[in-house]
Amino acid sequence: MNAYQRERDRAATDPAGFWADAAQAITWTRPPRQVLDDARPQFTRWFPDAELNTSANALDRHVDAGRGGDVALIYDSPVTGTVRRFTFAELTDEVARAAGALAALGVGHGDRVIIYLPMIPAAVVSMLACARLGAVHSVVFGGFAAAELAARMDDARAKVVVSASCGIEPTRIVPYKPMLDEAIAQATHAPEATLIVQRDQQRATMVAGRDHDWDEALAAAAPHPPVPVAATDPLYILYTSGTTGRPKGIVRDNGGHAVAMAWSMRNIYDIGPGDVMWAASDVGWAVGHSYTVYAPLLAGATTVLYEGKPVGTPDAGAFWRVVSDHGVNVLFTAPTAIRAIRREDPAGDLVRRYDRASLRALFLAGERLDPPTYEWAVATLGIPVIDNYWQTETGWPIVANPLGLGLLPPRAGSPTVPIPGYDVRVLDPAGEPVPAGTEGAICLRLPLPPGALPTLWEDDERYVASYLSAFDGYYLTGDGGYLDEDGYVFVLGRTDDVINVAGHRLSTGSMEAVLAAHPAVAECAVVGVADPLKGQVPRGFVVVKVGAQIAPETLAAELVAQVRARIGPVAAFGRVDVVPALPKTRSGKILRRTMREIADGRSPAVPPTIEDPAVLDVLLPVLRPS
Ligand code: COA
Ligand code: AMP
Repeated sequence: MNAYQRERDRAATDPAGFWADAAQAITWTRPPRQVLDDARPQFTRWFPDAELNTSANALDRHVDAGRGGDVALIYDSPVTGTVRRFTFAELTDEVARAAGALAALGVGHGDRVIIYLPMIPAAVVSMLACARLGAVHSVVFGGFAAAELAARMDDARAKVVVSASCGIEPTRIVPYKPMLDEAIAQATHAPEATLIVQRDQQRATMVAGRDHDWDEALAAAAPHPPVPVAATDPLYILYTSGTTGRPKGIVRDNGGHAVAMAWSMRNIYDIGPGDVMWAASDVGWAVGHSYTVYAPLLAGATTVLYEGKPVGTPDAGAFWRVVSDHGVNVLFTAPTAIRAIRREDPAGDLVRRYDRASLRALFLAGERLDPPTYEWAVATLGIPVIDNYWQTETGWPIVANPLGLGLLPPRAGSPTVPIPGYDVRVLDPAGEPVPAGTEGAICLRLPLPPGALPTLWEDDERYVASYLSAFDGYYLTGDGGYLDEDGYVFVLGRTDDVINVAGHRLSTGSMEAVLAAHPAVAECAVVGVADPLKGQVPRGFVVVKVGAQIAPETLAAELVAQVRARIGPVAAFGRVDVVPALPKTRSGKILRRTMREIADGRSPAVPPTIEDPAVLDVLLPVLRPS
């Protein structure tokens, strides 16, 4: 039996013992005596009687252990030409002062703070400062527009927002502050105060009495000590796209999260004190939360915060330059980033320009890893390339090849095997497990392991309805797939209306809501179609109202502009076609899946329930890839 099988079996047969051992990696102000509270079966709580502080675990305890002079954070920003290193002692001091500044604005245990920042040190510092106070942060990705930010402010009822004057994209400066001002104007529950990082590239106009300068506030603040909180208290809310337009507030607790992060660093990513981990994901996404900020620091490793792109800052060698400059041991990114690099450097000339001796493995997640990208990376880098499958909801891998436990033989197209703690089953529509090799719904047998979501923010009902009600005793991932005869997992894609655009998770439902709001639109559908760089991109189809006086190209341009304004540039919504009708079932359901398959160049069977097959015939030339 190999180490993986041993760990998996123990986690399955003795979860309390397994996770109690894993919990030893954490410093508790009150150690857990009970590991798992299953009194409410759908709402498992991990370490219910324990107390800790996550920021003390990520920072202070490494300083206390004599590692204050070791580098904790490397900020590497090709868009501003800056590299800055923070030792554990410096980062602890900065976080303590940021916590003091937030406390001076009235933030305390349980209060929510929205963080809307580009990839600058203040993002990491403000997340950890909230954790230090026992406050709950909610980071909003900078590519989202004001309306999305306002929706998150309202749902979280945030007391304070931390933001910056601007972000820097390769071709333009993105003014964040006007977007924040607009969101505050739109919000029903406007925050009481903001803390703004003024960047020299574009300074923001401040509202007296409400907006506070980050540097001044930190300089004036008294360092705040870590506040012990219950392991079950929320550490953060991270909103993610569901099938409807309303984002879901994924809750992460403090104790289970810390334990899962520490376990995964050692056993999946093989990172420990002194190692350098670089997760090249924006902190606005789950990968950024878990593997740019929390897990490396909890493990006492160095983390890299990169404000740049895989290509264009300045070229497709940027990732290998960072690896070489900072001695990165493990790089984690999305397949789309590797596709972008490969497109510009197919022969790997820029890869060879840099010393990559430190790099032990490349981890890829966030979307399906297509075989050509996998093969290029393996051939060009000559190191293990490890696909891992997970979701914002779980916060850490469900399926991976566990580098720390010893790599298993990879299989093309599979992220490999379920990680200990996750009981992966594939079910048919009646909820019965299907035989190996048969497709079905990928589900996780309850309870979910530590670190996975305990519920949705202030919405237990929606949590149950979204994830737990389809099959009794199981969590529904929303992905379809199958297990092979050896238990390798194959993920085939979402079975709902969630799409993945350049590794960014988006809801076609929210885009449809924007299209439907246009006065000339009678009906609409948005589907995710295959794209060689971004994996998927959204395409819209609209039917105009009878008598509407608007040219199709004018309407299309207006709709593209509205999606950008309401959801944000990250939606990459660039194409909408005006069509005479949409294909529907006799009960009126739009055949989105059939449309998507045709747009992807496939020839799906026409569903027998179709109301009028002629509608599909008319659509074919528009749908088919050119
Ligand atoms: N703030 C403001 N705007 C942002 C932004 C941010 N933080 N991030 C992206 N945007 C904007 C971009 O400027 C772009 O706007 P444009 O339409 O005016 O050009 C739009 O949102 C789309 O951005 P992006 O998805 O980055 O596409 P791209 O074409 O600029 O770059 C890739 C393509 C593949 C290089 C890029 O998507 C990438 O690096 N993806 C990796 C994603 C990732 O790591 N995901 C995390 C999950 S593991
Ligand atoms: P997110 O919540 O943004 O992490 O997106 C989660 C979704 O991305 C999953 O439900 C999958 O559809 C998809 N996904 C993530 N990782 C993988 C992977 N390794 N292989 C296939 N799909 C993936």
